[in-house]
Amino acid sequence: MIEKSTAKKKKKREEEKESQIYENSLRPKKLAEYIGQETIKKNLDVAIKAAKLRKEPLDHTLLHGPAGLGKTTLANIISNEMGVNMKVTSGPALEKQGDLASILTNLQENDTLFIDEIHRIRPAIEEILYTAMEDYGIDIIIGEGPSARSMRLNIPKFTLIGATTKMSLLSSPLRDRFGNTFKLSFYNEDELHEIVKRAALILSYSIDEKASKEIAKSCRQTPRIANRLLRRIRDFAEVENMKTITLETTKKGLTSLGIDTMGLDQGDREILDLIISKFNGGPVGLSAISAACSEEQSTLEDVYEPYLLKIGFLERTHRGRIATKYAYDHLGYEYIEPKNTH
Ligand SMILES: Nc1ncnc2c1ncn2[C@@H]1O[C@H](COP(=O)(O)OP(=O)(O)OP(=O)(O)O)[C@@H](O)[C@H]1O
Ligand SMILES: [Mg+2]
Repeated sequence: MIEKSTAKKKKKREEEKESQIYENSLRPKKLAEYIGQETIKKNLDVAIKAAKLRKEPLDHTLLHGPAGLGKTTLANIISNEMGVNMKVTSGPALEKQGDLASILTNLQENDTLFIDEIHRIRPAIEEILYTAMEDYGIDIIIGEGPSARSMRLNIPKFTLIGATTKMSLLSSPLRDRFGNTFKLSFYNEDELHEIVKRAALILSYSIDEKASKEIAKSCRQTPRIANRLLRRIRDFAEVENMKTITLETTKKGLTSLGIDTMGLDQGDREILDLIISKFNGGPVGLSAISAACSEEQSTLEDVYEPYLLKIGFLERTHRGRIATKYAYDHLGYEYIEPKNTH
C-alpha cells in the first residue's frame, strides 16, 4: 500500500517536472514576444527604457492575477530586458530572516529578486523587505541580551519582483512599497490563438488554423492551459499517425479529455455539480466545498474559481459561493433561485 502511494507520488513528481520543462521551453524571452496584456507591456516598456537610461534598477514591481496567466514569464522578461540576473525564491521557501538576508547581500547591483507567492511570506521576514526595498539596507542584530545592538548593512540596489494570485492577502505596507503594480487579466480568443500558433511553431507541430482556434476557445482563457491542451491533442494526432493536427482530431481530443464547449474540465463541472446538487446551489463556504470534493482550498481559489467567476457561473458573496443560472443551464439542471444570499 505504502509502496503504491510512493510510486504514485514519484510518478506525479516526474509528470510535474516534465510539464515544467515543457512550460519553460515555451516561455517568451522578450517583451515583444509576450502576447496580449497590452497596457502592461506598454507601461513596462517605458519604465524599463527609463531605468536603463538612468542606469538604475527598475522600480519594485508587483504582478498579480490568476494562475497560468504569465507572471513568472513576465518576471523573466523584465530581467532579460534590463540585462540583469534574476534570483528566484518564494514566500514559503523563506523560513528564517537569515535566508532572505543572505539572498539580498549576495545580489549584484541592479539585479532582480523574484519572490513568487509573495503573499505567503512570514511577517518577520516581510519586515526585512521593508528597509531593503526602501533604503537598500537591512538591520541585523549583533550580540544577545542587554549588549545586543542593531547594525545597518547596505545591500546592492535591486528590483524586487513579487508575484501573487492573492493580492488581498498582501499587507498594505508591503503593497505600498511597489512602484509598479500590474494586474494580469484573462486573454481573449485572438491572443490565445496567437499563443497556440507560436507554441506549435516552436515545437514544430503542424496545426490547422481551425484546430488552433478551437484550442484557443477551450483553454479557460489561460495560456498555460492552451499550451497543455496543444500537447495533449498532439498526442492524439500522433497516435492516429497524422502529420497535422486537424479540427477533427482536436474535437475528438477535447471530448476525450473531458473538456466541454465552455472549456470547462471535469474538475470544474464537479465543483459546480456539487454546489448545485449537494448544497442547493449555495451559498456554501469554501471549506465545505473543499471537504466535499477533496480538493485543497488554495487550489479551488487559485485554479478553479477565477475562471468560473469570470464567466459568471459562480458568484462570491459574504455567505459563500453561489452557482448562477448559467451554471444550472450548462449542466442541465432546472434553475432554483437561491434563498438568503445576503
Ligand atoms: N503572454 C504570453 N504569451 C505567450 N505565452 C505565455 C504568455 N503568458 C503565459 N504564457 C505561457 O504560459 C505558461 C504559464 O505562464 P506562467 O508560468 O508565467 O504563469 P504564472 O502566472 O506564473 O502562473 P502561476 O500563478 O501558476 O505561477 C508559460 O509556459 C508561458 O509559455
Ligand atoms: Mg508562476
